[in-house]
Amino acid sequence: MRVVILESPEAVTQFAADEVCTLLKQRSSNKFGAVLGLATGGTPLGLYRELIARNARREISFANVETFNLDEYIGVPPDSAQSYHYYMHENLFKHIDIDISMTHVPVTFGVDLQHSAADFELKIEQSGGIDLQILGIGVDAHIGFNEIGSSLGSRTRVKTLTQRTRNDNARYFGSIDDVPHTALTMGIQTILESQSILLLATGTGKAKAIRDTVEGPITASVPASALQLHPNVTLAIDRDAASGLSNADYFLAAERNRAVASRSS
Ligand code: F6R
Repeated sequence: MRVVILESPEAVTQFAADEVCTLLKQRSSNKFGAVLGLATGGTPLGLYRELIARNARREISFANVETFNLDEYIGVPPDSAQSYHYYMHENLFKHIDIDISMTHVPVTFGVDLQHSAADFELKIEQSGGIDLQILGIGVDAHIGFNEIGSSLGSRTRVKTLTQRTRNDNARYFGSIDDVPHTALTMGIQTILESQSILLLATGTGKAKAIRDTVEGPITASVPASALQLHPNVTLAIDRDAASGLSNADYFLAAERNRAVASRSS
């Protein structure tokens, strides 16, 4: 795992935006555009603002980009302000030059959920697979809505949300009673099939989850620990989120060496 420890949440945003832009520029002249995996929640909001700004300055284009979101609540209509369809539209899609028909958020309203999950997996396969999957992380180290105990071999399916996740997300709803109990989420295996993965985390609230993900054993009790199995994972985290790592000095030294190597190549 590449662990990049940055000074501030703003630096995490810039790092993540640079990674996305590098991919989009590499693919801009290719007839197959980039396929991005996207997350919701508080953490990627800065990244989306930065991508909107770079798109407005014409530094990047989303004209040839296809996207897949990690998850969607069950029981929340897509036009409701709490749905992840709405979140993506408001915080990214409506501000950029993307073809909306190339954006995919799991469909959970008015459909057969098993069929919808299978269709979502098929669409990822037909796209040629996700090039870069952006992830946030829950305080209990969930990724997507793969809660503790999720099979490391799981694919897109319905998951029951833990009380902790419901409490954490209650801030987006009127009351805890309005927070859904279930969601449709990409599985851990689905996520692991992405070509590359970029996990973002900021703040001390994520420090334990990051420590368990990077330095703990691979276990379904820490869903993000499955990322240790992937050969191309980068964690971009601020100092607060890195504060639980016992090997932080090693990761900082590795990044200094990487910078030296890239200057001399
Ligand atoms: C959202 C998602 C979740 C969040 C996680 C962290 O699509 O997949 O795993 O990334 O709950 O949320 P924030 O960023 O709000 O702390």
